[in-house]
Amino acid sequence: MADEPLVLGIETSCDETGVGIVRGERLLVDAIASSVDQHARFGGVVPEVASRAHLEAMVPTIERACRDAGVALRDVDAIAVTAGPGLAGALLVGVGAAKALAVALGKPLYGVNHLASHVAVDIVEHGPLPEPAMAMLVSGGHSSLLLVPDVTHDVRSLGATMDDAAGEAFDKVARVLGLPFPGGPHIDRAAREGNRIAIDFPRGFTSGRDLERHRFDFSFSGLKTAVARWVETRQRAGEAIPVADVAASFQEAVVDVLTRKALLACKEHEVDHLLIGGGVAANSRLRALAQERCDKAGVVLRVPRPELCTDNGAMVATLGAQMVLKGRAPSDLGLPADSSMPVTLVQA
Ligand code: KG4
Ligand code: ZN
Repeated sequence: MADEPLVLGIETSCDETGVGIVRGERLLVDAIASSVDQHARFGGVVPEVASRAHLEAMVPTIERACRDAGVALRDVDAIAVTAGPGLAGALLVGVGAAKALAVALGKPLYGVNHLASHVAVDIVEHGPLPEPAMAMLVSGGHSSLLLVPDVTHDVRSLGATMDDAAGEAFDKVARVLGLPFPGGPHIDRAAREGNRIAIDFPRGFTSGRDLERHRFDFSFSGLKTAVARWVETRQRAGEAIPVADVAASFQEAVVDVLTRKALLACKEHEVDHLLIGGGVAANSRLRALAQERCDKAGVVLRVPRPELCTDNGAMVATLGAQMVLKGRAPSDLGLPADSSMPVTLVQA
C-alpha cells in the first residue's frame, strides 16, 4: 500500500551502525556495519573506537540501505533514531545524522528508546504485537523483563539485572574459558558437546527472600564468579578444564533463570504472549527451553530471527513506523542523546 509510511531508522547505541527502512509493517532493508572486530582484542566495546567507526560508517550505510531498498531519501516519510540508552558518544553520531536528514529533507523526526525498539522489531517478523505482551530483553548491555501494553507509549519495567547483563556474563565466562569475544556464540557452540547437568552452578534471585525481593530482577555476577572459582580450582590442581561441560552448565544456569522468571511474569500478569529479544536471544538453548516452558504454560513464544535480535536499524525504523501509524507527534528537533534513557520513556 502506497499510503503506508516509509520510515528510515538509525541505530548507533553500541558497536553496530544500523540503518533500516520499513514501509508500514514490512521490512525493506536492514543495513549493518559493525565495529565488533575492532573491539575484540580489548575483550569489550571501547566507546571512543565505536564512535569513530559510526562516523565513518554512517553515510555509506545510509546510501547502501537506500540503494538496496530501491528508495530515494526524498521519498522517506519520517526519520527514526535511537535516542538512548547506550554509549553517549555513539548515540550522538546517530542522533546528529538523523537530525541532519530530518532538517535537510523536511521530514518529521522520532527519537526512540533502544529497548522498546528491540520489542517492536518482531512486528516485521511475526505481525502486530498483542497488547499487552511480555518482553524479555537479553543482550550485552541489558537484561530486562517488560510488560508492554503499547510499544509506542506504554512500556513498564517489571525487573532488570542488578549487576551483569546476561550477555556480559556470557562474554566474561567465555574469557575465563579462553574463548574469543564476543563469547556468547562460542559458549553456545561449545555447550552443544557438553553436559548441562555436569556442574550445579548457582541460580541468582530464584529462591527465598531473594525471590521475594527481586521477583523479576536478575543477578549473574555470582554465577560468573562461581564459574571462575570452579575453573581456577581445577587449574591450580593441574587438571584439564572440561570446557564443553562448564559452558553447558553455565549456559543452563542462565537460561533456566531467564525462562523461569519470564514465565512467572506471564502467569502473574496474565499475559499469554512472550517475546524475547537482544543478542542472547540467538542462544540455541534459550530458544529451546523457552519454547518447551511456553508450550507447557500455554504461552505463545515470539522470537525474531537472530539478525533482528542483535542491534540493528530495522528495529528503530519499525518503532518509528508504529509511531507514525498510531498518529504520535514527532520529537522536537532539539532532542538530546540520552545515554541513560529510562526504559519506560519510549520516545525522547
Ligand atoms: O544485542 P547485542 O548485539 O548488543 C548489545 O546491545 O549488547 O548483544 C550482544 C550480546 C553479546 O554479549 C553476545 O555474547 C551475546 O549477545 N550473544 C549470545 C549469543 N549470540 C550473541 N549469547 C549467548 N548465545 C548466543 N548464541
Ligand atoms: Zn540492544
